[in-house]
Amino acid sequence: MKVFSGSSNKPLVEKIAKQLNTSLSPLEIFIFPDGERRIRAIDRVVGQDTVVIQSTSPNPDTAYMELFFIVDALKRSGAKSVVAVVPYLGYQRQDHVFRDGEAVSLEVIIETLESVGMDKLITFDLHSIKIPELFKIPIVHLSALPLFAEKIKEIIGQGAEVAPPGRGSPRPSDTILVSPDMGGIRRIKILSELLSNMPFVSIVKDRDLKTGNISSSSFDTESPEWKKGVKRAIIVDDMISTGRTIVSAVDLLIKNGIEENLIFATHPVFSNDAKNILQNSRASKIFVTDTIDISEKGRFAKLEILSVANLIANGLRN
Ligand code: R5P
Repeated sequence: MKVFSGSSNKPLVEKIAKQLNTSLSPLEIFIFPDGERRIRAIDRVVGQDTVVIQSTSPNPDTAYMELFFIVDALKRSGAKSVVAVVPYLGYQRQDHVFRDGEAVSLEVIIETLESVGMDKLITFDLHSIKIPELFKIPIVHLSALPLFAEKIKEIIGQGAEVAPPGRGSPRPSDTILVSPDMGGIRRIKILSELLSNMPFVSIVKDRDLKTGNISSSSFDTESPEWKKGVKRAIIVDDMISTGRTIVSAVDLLIKNGIEENLIFATHPVFSNDAKNILQNSRASKIFVTDTIDISEKGRFAKLEILSVANLIANGLRN
């Protein structure tokens, strides 16, 4: 198996290669003065199984074009198969028509990847569980939730793991899992199971599709029982982009008397001023993964990055 890397997340690719005990195959990525890219596979790949790893943030359009060209270069050079590892699959939030007249961007991306010859996709924590149905080729949908569960156990201590099942029931745990919107409820249920049925609640979030403005004003239960004895909330989301969902969730939880708020999100998209918004928010700590590379400059004191390299290496071994 030959492993190739796009240019969007080299630190993660190097960690994966180390886990696989392999070295990366060289690619020539030449950027013309006008920004166009020329891609060339240097090693012979005739009849070989190949893997290309490329995340699609930041700069999703450039990252995708590079990925299309790498897959095309490998297929044209006679590769037997091309597995694309796309830890963060950009455009996944536009997976259907929300308002009349819109393009389904994700479908266009998938069709292009399939038509250039991608044989299989490995990706992480997709926004919707329906996305895999859009693919004609096999897709391996990995999750960072087991990684989060381990970290949460470490933080709250082993004793707090033994919460009895059921929402609002008396429990020794002073911690609750929180989904910042109803769309994340499935994710939170899986994490709850990984944490011996830790209680959970979901915030009801509204987003204005025109302005992008967010309001988190209530919870999916009217009974105040779930708050009893809760001192710490763990907010879990698939991605953080502008940071507004998180800030609005934390503010609502603090208003409801929960002082310590820890954030776990798989994909650190971190657009615009997210770094400062998150650092200056009332969240206690923010855990993300390295599905998207965050430069030294983009990091901040409250941020901790957990690596998915091991999970991807295991996915490639199977
Ligand atoms: C939305 O449904 C997603 O799960 C995230 O909550 C959202 O994309 C985060 O975006 P932002 O950080 O811009 O609020």
